[in-house]
Amino acid sequence: MAGIATVMMFITTLHLASLVRALNVNYYENTCPHVDSIVAASVHKATMNDKTVAAALLRMHFHDCFIRGCDASVLLESKGKTIAEKDGPPNISLHAFYVIDNAKKALEEVCPGVVSCADILALAARDAVTLSGGPTWDVPKGRKDGRISMATETRQLPAPTFNISQLQQSFSQRGLSLEDLVALSGGHTLGFAHCSSFQNRIHRFSPKQDIDPSLNPSFGSRLRSICPSHNKVKNAGTSLDSSSTLFDNAYYKLLLQGESIFSSDQALLTHPTTKALVSKFAYSQEEFERAFVKSMIKMSSITNDGQQQIRLDCKFVR
Ligand code: HEM
Ligand SMILES: *[C@@H]1O[C@H](CO)[C@@H](O)[C@H](O)[C@H]1NC(C)=O
Ligand SMILES: *[C@@H]1O[C@H](CO)[C@@H](O)[C@H](O)[C@H]1NC(C)=O
Repeated sequence: MAGIATVMMFITTLHLASLVRALNVNYYENTCPHVDSIVAASVHKATMNDKTVAAALLRMHFHDCFIRGCDASVLLESKGKTIAEKDGPPNISLHAFYVIDNAKKALEEVCPGVVSCADILALAARDAVTLSGGPTWDVPKGRKDGRISMATETRQLPAPTFNISQLQQSFSQRGLSLEDLVALSGGHTLGFAHCSSFQNRIHRFSPKQDIDPSLNPSFGSRLRSICPSHNKVKNAGTSLDSSSTLFDNAYYKLLLQGESIFSSDQALLTHPTTKALVSKFAYSQEEFERAFVKSMIKMSSITNDGQQQIRLDCKFVR
């Protein structure tokens, strides 16, 4: 019996080891020591020229990690009949891929074939947060790039219409807790939402109410005037919080005032655990930042055990 138990334990350990690739902040210490600063330079240059880059990089990393783990699947181009993630819905907010490509080019010159695109994206997301006035942290590295990207799999992303149980399930399937859910939703302190992402709250919300009653009424009317039901303005929408290029805790303060954008944000107030965390983060920027860093490291460590490689061009498998 003891023998079987030992074998079982061994198998279980092996299985986990293959799922959780050991990441390490010093991973490129000998092979590409300046990786962090080379990526940061590319992000810095781009954010100086375009205020929307930081939000785009943070969302891109989230999107990457939630589909097949953080394996840069979000960066691959469609090829032949295979439609890639980036060409599937909801790709509407994905942009600034050039920032990753520029960093990759610079890295290929000093340490060819060494740094994964998945690591570059994880670093760029951290830099985006830091350059927007948010916290900084050491990014564990050593991810590998996947070979598969399929538009159909973007269905695995949580939708902005999700309620708290759907959100909890989506996060827990990836080893993320309710605290991670609340802290990472704070990513909505940066960036922009198109009308299509929150129209469920402002047009025919329910048979009885056009506008979601949990929205502050004047805020709800404002959203509706930006996004009329027969919206003709291409790319109409609104910023995700009042200071959409500054990484702060305004998102949580606004959420408590009925001024969140997505149903999935509002849903954080419908469960006692998540509601308490929203209040805590609204009250303390420091608590928010501490939790955000912890949860980002967790999210950006989601890996898969598929056949992987180090790409030479982030848009194509080798
Ligand atoms: C909890 C589940 C989540 C849902 C349902 C969700 C949904 C969305 C949606 C629908 C958009 C707007 C797309 C558009 O209309 O253009 C958006 C934007 C964004 N999301 Fe989330 N998101 C979630 C979690 C996260 C996480 C974990 C992060 C990162 C930590 C994040 C960061 C962002 C950022 C930065 C933007 C703005 C993108 C830009 O302006 O380019 N989101 N999200
Ligand atoms: C989003 O997908 C559409 C087709 O579904 C494609 O034309 C467009 O280029 C994609 N956008 C990005 C940013 O990749
Ligand atoms: C969330 O939505 C799902 C699917 O529509 C439903 O089964 C579930 O009961 C809902 N949960 C809550 C807490 O509203």
